[in-house]
Amino acid sequence: MTNPYKVTKALIPVAGLGTRFLPATKAMPKEMLPLIDKPVIQYVVEEAVDTGLTDILMITGRNKSSLENHFDRVAELEQTLKAKGDSERLEQVQESSDLADIYYTRQGDPKGLGHAVLTGKQHIGEHSFAVLLGDDVINAKDILLSKMIEIHEATGDNVIALMEVDPADISLYGCAAVTATDQEDVVIVTDLVEKPAASEAPSNLAVIGRYVLRGEMFQLLENTKPGRGGEIQLTDALEAAVKNPEIAGGVRGIVFRGNRYDTGDKLNFIKATIKLGVDREDIGEDLREFLRNFAKTI
Ligand code: UTP
Repeated sequence: MTNPYKVTKALIPVAGLGTRFLPATKAMPKEMLPLIDKPVIQYVVEEAVDTGLTDILMITGRNKSSLENHFDRVAELEQTLKAKGDSERLEQVQESSDLADIYYTRQGDPKGLGHAVLTGKQHIGEHSFAVLLGDDVINAKDILLSKMIEIHEATGDNVIALMEVDPADISLYGCAAVTATDQEDVVIVTDLVEKPAASEAPSNLAVIGRYVLRGEMFQLLENTKPGRGGEIQLTDALEAAVKNPEIAGGVRGIVFRGNRYDTGDKLNFIKATIKLGVDREDIGEDLREFLRNFAKTI
């Protein structure tokens, strides 16, 4: 019998306004900013593909053309590289267009992450699916999404990714109250609050940008009223799942202890560039030497 909770599709929302990165994001989505030599979105798509999800729906907004172009073939460029015999660069440009079947739906008005996910209802259908935020990069060496899918397929509960943060920073995130399970780093979520004041936060466990959801979550999203910031919040729909698990299952969390970069934020974007850079074979050694010397001057 096939598992009713089998996950085959990924939804990647990229329709936010990216106000924290203005003016760079005035005419270009933040997900197209390059981390070393690939736009942020390519890391996210590669993570989905590496997890076995090759049917990908991107929820785009204004300025979407550069995103679509990046995952299309560019015949003239490929011809030129072929003519030059530059097979290494040819492979690099073909890589992004050969990755997966990518579909696009437009979120007419960026009314929040929950609304962006709801926009994908028709493509996703009734099945379970993964959501990967387009500006959240998880280090490729660290395992997260595949473990989330495993837990979802075994339990039928929605699964969210959590990370311990400095309690002073919890007001920047959705925050989860949890109880332990007998599995290490897997928890049952008992309450969710979007961006609570530090004094009111039930924990220092922040919700980060990976989710595995049941198809029935669309019903809960349809009934979710605009919340914090006037936006339809995915956290609020998940809170409804916590309260009424008979509709769309309950919510579990995985406490992630690897490397995650919020590239929608300037300082974290720089940190991500440096951390990924020092691990690279081509530039890592030179970058490490530069950093050691530079550190002596500041
Ligand atoms: P963020 O809150 O980080 O995106 O949403 P934002 O609104 O663009 O950020 P700032 O605060 O203005 O800088 C997380 C993810 O959800 C998408 C974003 O593109 C990002 O990948 N998103 C957010 C949507 O697709 N639609 C929305 O209405 C809101």
